[in-house]
Amino acid sequence: MALYSETVMDHFRNPRNVGVIEDADGVGEAGNAVCGDIMKIYLKIEDSTVADVRFETFGCGSAIASSSMATELIKGRHLSEVLTLTNKAVAEALDGLPAHKLHCSVLAEEAIRAAVQDYYDRQKLSE
Ligand code: FES
Repeated sequence: MALYSETVMDHFRNPRNVGVIEDADGVGEAGNAVCGDIMKIYLKIEDSTVADVRFETFGCGSAIASSSMATELIKGRHLSEVLTLTNKAVAEALDGLPAHKLHCSVLAEEAIRAAVQDYYDRQKLSE
């Protein structure tokens, strides 16, 4: 069996939602100290819903595929749903990741949560 699923390879070769949102409403970053990979998520929020999302990932193929899939999973979703996204769901949507690459999907979960938290923090500051 191939190490990586077709879905992982597809999202690695043709990542969705790559880039930066200059006027993002929330930005979150996550990194893994062991491999040194870093993921950054930019959110545009309208009516508590993800109107747009972009990512920058400096990391391995699994991290890029996880970022791409995670952004697809949260696009158009209410923030309450976004906060329930787990790395397991990202890995499942990718039709699995090798065990030693599961931490790559954790970066996506953490970066998205950090971006939502940043959005909430900014909202509080502007109250
Ligand atoms: Fe660390 Fe993939 S090897 S994020």
